[in-house]
Amino acid sequence: MKNKMIHELFQLSHAKTFEGDTLLSLHFQNDKKELALNSQSPTELHDLVKHGVFNAAAKSTSFIRASYIDKINLLFVGLGAKKDSSFETARQTGAVTFTKVSSEKVKALGIDVDSFLKASGKEHAAEVLCAFLEGFYLASYTYDKHKTTPKHNHKLKSITLVSSDKKNDNWLNELAHKVLVTADCTFLTRDLSNEPSNFGTPEYYANTLAKLSKDYGLKCKIMNEAACKKENMNLFLSVGNGSTRESYVVVMEYTPKTGAKTAKTVSLVGKGVTFDSGGISIKPSMKMEDMKHDMTGAATMIGATLMAARLEAKQKIITVLGFCENMPGNNATQPGNVITTRNGKTVEIINTDAEGRLVLADILDLAQDYKPDVMVNTATLTGASTVALGKLASALFANDEKLAQQFIEVSCKTEERLWKLPLWDEYFDDLKTPYADMANSANDAAGGTIRGAIFLKQFIKEGQKWAHIDLANRAYDQGFLPYNPRKGSSGVYVRTFAEFVMNYR
Ligand code: BES
Ligand code: ZN
Ligand code: ZN
Repeated sequence: MKNKMIHELFQLSHAKTFEGDTLLSLHFQNDKKELALNSQSPTELHDLVKHGVFNAAAKSTSFIRASYIDKINLLFVGLGAKKDSSFETARQTGAVTFTKVSSEKVKALGIDVDSFLKASGKEHAAEVLCAFLEGFYLASYTYDKHKTTPKHNHKLKSITLVSSDKKNDNWLNELAHKVLVTADCTFLTRDLSNEPSNFGTPEYYANTLAKLSKDYGLKCKIMNEAACKKENMNLFLSVGNGSTRESYVVVMEYTPKTGAKTAKTVSLVGKGVTFDSGGISIKPSMKMEDMKHDMTGAATMIGATLMAARLEAKQKIITVLGFCENMPGNNATQPGNVITTRNGKTVEIINTDAEGRLVLADILDLAQDYKPDVMVNTATLTGASTVALGKLASALFANDEKLAQQFIEVSCKTEERLWKLPLWDEYFDDLKTPYADMANSANDAAGGTIRGAIFLKQFIKEGQKWAHIDLANRAYDQGFLPYNPRKGSSGVYVRTFAEFVMNYR
């Protein structure tokens, strides 16, 4: 079951010899940024270098079409100078290579692993190849579910990792599995986030998760509005008051096959607002269509949970997601309303558009019932995150320095950048109100991302390790990275959360 793919991906396997139409080889530059040739380099490569067509610069490709039917095409790919090559260079090169492979209509691609291992030296070779393939697969994503004529952008059916050395069998098979699972789970996140909100309703996500949990052996509990009411999750429920669609909280549980008794428990919590109109504090219409992506926090945690589960993480995972729709309507929550939360505190709603924190407050409280060793949440929480950090990094908050460092380390490897912002309690002063224990917003534009985090902090129990990532600035339209779609959901941070879980000790 764990090998079952959600998406139709081109095959990735390992073989001793290659039969296909195109053989790809990866090349590094030397310190002088030249491609060093040797007697074993093919004559085609000598010619390309001689004519200045290819010098193995990072993200460069050169395709030589076979002149005879019985010969194969050659694809030379550059990874740049070995001394400054990073996993991210390999990842981006992989993405650029996919574009080349699809424009050249390659059907069956082989990758010459033996020559790559020789050129790279063994250290990190597997990780470089993994990043290359990750970029290659991630770039192949299309979202054409709602097109009457689906657009196929490539002819590729399979990739073969070619190595004649038996010693490479195991790690190549593992690598292939990891790459496929990573792509499949990132595509899942992208699909869920791209879903228009007339299809992607809270009920749709709850049903989808019930099915996915069954397929991958996770426990899944679905709480409808009545069940949430019993749990006093009034703050969460207040967000869906103006919507005709029912709100749902979903709890997914993954338990490792062995060592469960001593395993650490990681809780992943995500905001799943299926459409954020702003509610009574309605948003301007410009780009309001992007607010179908306001459930990307939940989508990201779903992708990360399944990725870690399918890669057989040694940790327990409790994933808690809150799905609802923020709409104006006769029953909608009004500014000035006071609501009692699951943990008994009261909140004055100043702005119904600051709804993500209301969803999270109650589900963070619920997640703590499971006594996790660490709890992390993510959400498209504030537009101010773009003001603070632009599009290159998302804001990380943590109430524990070691935990922050663990995230930074993982994110350096996945190159899904994070930048730490403060959680100083003085920021809470802006949320003080005479009418309740706190307000949900301050009607003050400055420091909005930090204020969102400070609000969440009010719901974290003493001693609970917790981190929050506000991915509003990176959830969609991240096409400046070649492995992300130009438009729509990026799937960014799926890999980071999954790696975080799998490395948590
Ligand atoms: N879903 C939005 C945040 C958002 C904005 C995500 C732009 C993606 C792109 C969130 O619910 C929101 O509206 N936040 C308000 C908070 C404010 C009212 C305190 C915001 O950012 O303006
Ligand atoms: Zn909002
Ligand atoms: Zn929102």
